[in-house]
Amino acid sequence: MKKAIVVFASGTGSNFKNIVEKIKIHNLDAEVVLLVSNNSNCNAVTFAKKNNIKTLIYNSIKYPNDFNQDILLKKIKQYEIDLIVLAGYMKKISKNLIKNYKNKILNIHPSLLPKYGGKGFYGMKVHEAVYANKDKKTGATVHFVDENYDTGPILIQKEINLKLDEKPSKISGKVLELEHEIYFNSVRLFCEDKILWKNNKPLIKE
Ligand code: GRF
Repeated sequence: MKKAIVVFASGTGSNFKNIVEKIKIHNLDAEVVLLVSNNSNCNAVTFAKKNNIKTLIYNSIKYPNDFNQDILLKKIKQYEIDLIVLAGYMKKISKNLIKNYKNKILNIHPSLLPKYGGKGFYGMKVHEAVYANKDKKTGATVHFVDENYDTGPILIQKEINLKLDEKPSKISGKVLELEHEIYFNSVRLFCEDKILWKNNKPLIKE
């Protein structure tokens, strides 16, 4: 049965676009039915509108007292979704939402978690740390979301080697390319029911 996906994004939304486009290219039986964003002016929202994907702007100005994200949950529930994909979403997801969508929320992080994960490590900050530490490799990680930052069970992690003195902006470009590859692959595994859970760990069915 066709899987319904909600994407959450706050910025450029290249992962969001990539997933929407690859769903079509690969004929995946899935559809992004809603984009949630805290930022009505971001590129992700523009892309959604151009592609007739419904948008929901959700932030503390519009919903100042929704501390548990009850309103957000109610709005999402109208769509009977199978999967939530966090793609550069800069706000924390409430425990309430996580409880309601256990093992159904994916996130991507531009490092080899647990390295460079946690509060304060995002975007270029990660790549600058990789550069400052002269790491010889970096990568990207797709994981299910739990109640803490970047600690949930890992689904796919892939690494790349870095050349000597590659600058953070170069590292960022390489990692983003990798992100696009592994994030769509993760969405595909989910939508094709190829993930099974054992002792709280996601395993990939052959
Ligand atoms: C990506 O680097 C992702 O790992 C992080 O936020 C960034 C979003 O990029 N969570 P984009 O908006 O998908 O281009």
